[in-house]
Amino acid sequence: MLKRLLPAGILAALVVLAPPLFAQNAAAPDPAQTAGPLPSQSQTASHPHRPLPKPVNLKVLPADTSPEELRKIMRGYAAALDVKCGFCHAMDPKTHRLDFPSDAKPDKGIARIMIAMTQTINQQYMTQVQDPDAMPEDKHVTCGTCHRGHTMPEHFVPPPGQHHGPPPSGQPQ
Ligand code: HEC
Ligand code: HEC
Repeated sequence: MLKRLLPAGILAALVVLAPPLFAQNAAAPDPAQTAGPLPSQSQTASHPHRPLPKPVNLKVLPADTSPEELRKIMRGYAAALDVKCGFCHAMDPKTHRLDFPSDAKPDKGIARIMIAMTQTINQQYMTQVQDPDAMPEDKHVTCGTCHRGHTMPEHFVPPPGQHHGPPPSGQPQ
């Protein structure tokens, strides 16, 4: 069984406080601001992400995935499991930044299996389903289909009811 909780230190290091946005007074707008153009947001509210370098250790995703595309994909994983990047990516102990190419965290290895599994489900099985009622989003499986904001998909226990499953053994229906 894997350790599911991040060490507190990693979490703490991940917390990046965004600079406060405009503190605008809604009740009494500043005439100086309404009269002219607003000050450049790039100075006050900017919180640019460091651009990701070209990936060097992709084993499942296409090796030529662009940094921009990769960021989108990774944000999708993080959202589907409701985790931060550091759930799968190890911290570099020297720089205290995430070392994305590192394979030190077992969760990254599990995620690779999951990516391959999801691809196989979609390519080999979902393509066989001919369902005219399906919405476009029903036609493929994503991480969120199973995970729904949890690191471990929740167990589904059908609510007790009359028509769920066979009767207890030995009893007539
Ligand atoms: C659920 C696990 C998971 C989460 C969460 C996650 N990643 Fe990843 N990430 C992976 C896996 C797995 C790979 C390797 C994919 C492969 O081998 O094809 C990877 C690869 C990468 C790479 C490429 C590294 C290299 O040079 O090979 C970058 C950059 C990256 N992730 C950034 C991020 C960022 C930024 C976030 C947060 C927004 C994030 N990841 C969240 C699992 C995750
Ligand atoms: C068909 C359902 C399904 C899909 C789709 C799926 N997963 Fe999973 N995932 C599971 C199950 C079930 C487990 C628990 C497996 C175990 O730990 O034995 C799991 C476990 C994981 C774990 C380990 C969690 C932990 O606490 O250590 C990671 C990371 C993960 N999945 C990432 C992903 C990513 C990323 C995707 C999309 C590329 C994905 N999964 C798609 C069912 C799914």
